[in-house]
This record gives sequence, C-alpha cells and structure tokens, in this order.
Amino acid sequence: VQKACIFDLDGVITDTAHYHFLAWQRLAHSLGLPFDEDDNHRLKGVGRMESLDYILAKGTTAYSMDERLALAQQKNEDYKTLIGGITPADILPGIVEALDWLKANNWRIGLASASRNAPQVLASLEITGAFDYVADAGAIPKGKPAPDIFLDVARAFGLPSSQCLGVEDAASGVAAIKAADMFAAGIGDADILAQADIVLPSPEGLVEKVLKPF
Ligand code: G6P
Ligand code: MG
Repeated sequence: VQKACIFDLDGVITDTAHYHFLAWQRLAHSLGLPFDEDDNHRLKGVGRMESLDYILAKGTTAYSMDERLALAQQKNEDYKTLIGGITPADILPGIVEALDWLKANNWRIGLASASRNAPQVLASLEITGAFDYVADAGAIPKGKPAPDIFLDVARAFGLPSSQCLGVEDAASGVAAIKAADMFAAGIGDADILAQADIVLPSPEGLVEKVLKPF
C-alpha cells in the first residue's frame, strides 16, 4: 500500500525556525515590545500576518492595514537576508537519510510548510527534487492548527489520512496533523509537543524509530 511522509520545513528539515525567531524578535524590540522563547514556540507554524498580529497585541498601539503590511514586509526582508547564505550543509542530520529511505521504499514525499519562502529554502538546500508535492501556503487560507495544509498534500497524493505521516516541530503543526487524522511525529520538546504520537529530540533516528515502524 502507498504511504506518504509529509514534512514541515522550518525547524524540521533545516534550522530556519531560529531565523524566524531572530527576525520577529528584532521587529518586536524595534517597536518596544517583548519577545522571548515562549513567544517563539507559540509562533512556530503560524503564518506571517497572524504572527505579526500576535506580537502587536502585546502593545496598545493600533496599526492600519498598510502599516501592518509594511511591518510584515520588514520582517520578511530581514528573514530573507538571514536565509540568504543557506547551503545543503544546513540540512539537519537525519533528513537526507530519511529522504533517501522514503524514496527507496516508494513512499510519496510532501511538504506542508506555512512559509511562502519554502520554495526558496528548498532550492538553497538543493532538495527541491526530493519532493513529489509542495503545498502552496499562499493558496491555503486556514493555517495550522487547522488540518487544511496536510489534507491538501494527502489529496494531491490521492491517499487517505491513515496512510500519511506528518513530521513537525511546532505545537500548532502537530495539532494540524492530528486534526487531519494522521500519525504525528514531533521533533523537539516532548512537553511542548505532547499531542504527537512520538517525539524525537531531532530528525536523527526518523528512519529507525518512526518510518520503519509505520
Ligand atoms: C512557518 C514558520 C513560521 C513562519 C511561517 C510563515 O510556519 O514556522 O515561523 O512565520 O512559516 O513564514 P513566511 O516565510 O511566509 O513568513
Ligand atoms: Mg516548523
């Protein structure tokens, strides 16, 4: 039977989650607003404008739509500078092994990232060709924790959720996978990702501990 592995990108395939954190923190601090690790965990997997609104809600200033778009653009320019130097060396340990194993075992390989920068990051990592389908974040209105982006990938593969396994580093992402009725592998902190079916501290061990048993 055909199976699919659907990956999140930021914080799973490469450590761009840290660059999102730096860019959001810089923006928040420039507005005199606090931004710490806890905020960072909440924003993982959350789309650009929603993340901005979460940060702005810490203050009392009201911003117009134009001002909000300008702030979001400022964060994104900053983020794009930070990811400008990404190379294949930035692929996290365990990912190439997992992609190779999936291909050798004839699984479908999908990407479900909320980031509109995902195609650029995949290109910089030189792994675009490893993916059979990459969801277009801009075309999916309801972000994580809604299941939509994972269901979009399953639909593209013509597979039921029961044959799909999602890999996520964000609490919102794990919630999205579970809402899609898929098996959820969490990468990171077991307390934060308590909703996952299994949690690994890093993508190392994905093949032996997650993919083979599924
Ligand atoms: C991912 C990241 C978030 C980021 C979102 C939107 O879900 O985990 O931190 O805010 O994508 O990314 P973008 O590159 O489109 O601003
Ligand atoms: Mg992520």
